[in-house]
Amino acid sequence: MIPFLDRECVTVAARKSRLVEFFYGEPDPELVQHVHDLGALASWQVGSLSEAIAAEHAGCDVVVAQGTEAGGHVRGQTSLFPLLSEILEVLRIPVIAAGGIATARDLAAALACGASGARIGTRFVAATESGAHPLYVKALIDASAADTCVTEAFSVMWPNAPHRVLRSSIAAAEALSEDILGETRVGDQVLPVQRLSVICPTTETTGHIGAMALYAGESVSSVRTVLPAADIVSALVSGATQELERAAG
Ligand SMILES: Cc1cc2nc3c(=O)[nH]c(=O)nc-3n(C[C@H](O)[C@H](O)[C@H](O)COP(=O)(O)O)c2cc1C
Repeated sequence: MIPFLDRECVTVAARKSRLVEFFYGEPDPELVQHVHDLGALASWQVGSLSEAIAAEHAGCDVVVAQGTEAGGHVRGQTSLFPLLSEILEVLRIPVIAAGGIATARDLAAALACGASGARIGTRFVAATESGAHPLYVKALIDASAADTCVTEAFSVMWPNAPHRVLRSSIAAAEALSEDILGETRVGDQVLPVQRLSVICPTTETTGHIGAMALYAGESVSSVRTVLPAADIVSALVSGATQELERAAG
């Protein structure tokens, strides 16, 4: 995340991982080169055509096109398919689709459009391995796309950065008057959770869980079960393959 970038973390990530991805900042050729020098591929998640072109010019190997359907912080102002079409028309490097994808049909649609893959967030908040607080997971399972909205409500620690959350979490936060809603653990530190801060609740968070930032994409309509991540991936891939074969006749 460019606004909080710790260059030492980039170095560690590039030494350990096959791919290092950046988000929420102007594509930076120097950072991309640094990742390449350490042997990893570089990716940039973008929200507009101009940012995608800048990422390709910066030397990225992959671009993630994020539509406004996405959960969490939302970079651009265009929904996934119009954005994907614009970017695919111009870029030569692989483009990954992000935002609103949680079913095999969604994945098949993105691949049929020309994306090389999908980046999926909200669906995995309800994976068995997820560290999300159980009340957050339950709120996702109970919600639909229309229960989400893009807001700047949860701006403490990171202002001017729109994000998509469950609308209920904004109402719950606004109904409370206390400054501190609970505590959360990050590594070996226990930190207070300020009202309207960017922190989303994990299994190690206590307090008013429903009034914290409950990030959710429009894809939340398809989050109905908690499953191991591997099962989610294999159902998506086999289902999308079937959809694409069926469409091809
Ligand atoms: C709970 C949550 C946390 C996220 N955190 C990050 C993050 O730390 N860095 C990042 O690049 N994107 C983050 N994202 C956004 C994803 O990269 C992606 O754009 C989004 O999840 C795609 O839409 P979907 O949620 O509908 O699948 C997050 C999304 C969610 C739902």
